[in-house]
Amino acid sequence: MWDHSATRRNLATLIDGGAVVVGPAEGRMASGDVGRGRMAEPDTVVDMLRAILARQGELAGTRVLVTAGPTREPLDPVRFLSNLSTGLMGHAVARAARDRGATVTLVSGPVSLAPIAGAQHVAVETAEEMRSEVLARATDSDAVVMAAAVADFRPRRVSPSKMRKAAGAPSLELVPTADILLSLAEELSGAEVRPVVVGFAAETDDLGASARRKLGAKSLDLVVANEVPASFGGGEMTALLVDRDGESTVGPGDKRVIADAVIDAVARLLAGGAADS
Ligand code: CTP
Repeated sequence: MWDHSATRRNLATLIDGGAVVVGPAEGRMASGDVGRGRMAEPDTVVDMLRAILARQGELAGTRVLVTAGPTREPLDPVRFLSNLSTGLMGHAVARAARDRGATVTLVSGPVSLAPIAGAQHVAVETAEEMRSEVLARATDSDAVVMAAAVADFRPRRVSPSKMRKAAGAPSLELVPTADILLSLAEELSGAEVRPVVVGFAAETDDLGASARRKLGAKSLDLVVANEVPASFGGGEMTALLVDRDGESTVGPGDKRVIADAVIDAVARLLAGGAADS
């Protein structure tokens, strides 16, 4: 039925008139047939409704670039170095910005999360890929939120074929990956208009001191510090938000609570003219 020419014509008329179509999804239908025609999952419908209702939000007309997830640094075609990031924080921030009407681009490392309705998704694997996708888009953005847990090191050599056990345990030589926020700071230095730039600080100790150090060292407008490994995954967390005027604690709450507070702070910085400082 979905592919029937009459359905297609009628749907085209509705879309022409401004209707938004959600779905259909693939799978088993009430008739017992399998294919394209199932109702989209309720979560997908709600996500799309939120995107539509947000169009007049306080961040309408604002472009927000968000990074999420881990990066993977390959050792050979089947192995990599990575970390425990699930991407939930970056996705929550992207969704919170989308819910206020921002035009959102999400550059994400490998995660198993549903796409965000209304956001542009850019999938990357390595820190270097994330760096080039971020730098290509940052100057066209009003705010950049680097929630990704970017690998700090990568193997110097990547074996083109699978490393064999019989060859013995390899010794790995690691080299630093490029720091994306530092590259961004260099690119923006001297720029007349710069986006609001937010970094995250995943710390095992000394949250406040590390956040303040990163604020200066990476030329950030805001640092969101949180304790790892406690904040990995979907549980409750607490975050310390540090900017040039001081700091505040958010939570304990889930990642939506933290993401809302981050986007509140971004909206304040945008309104306060941080983009011209
Ligand atoms: N980050 C980045 N590029 C990297 C590593 C990290 O842009 N190669 C960003 C992260 O996305 C995060 C911020 O820098 O927003 C802080 O990351 P973190 O790993 O906490 O700090 P590092 O600067 O790597 O420093 P340290 O190892 O001292 O904690």
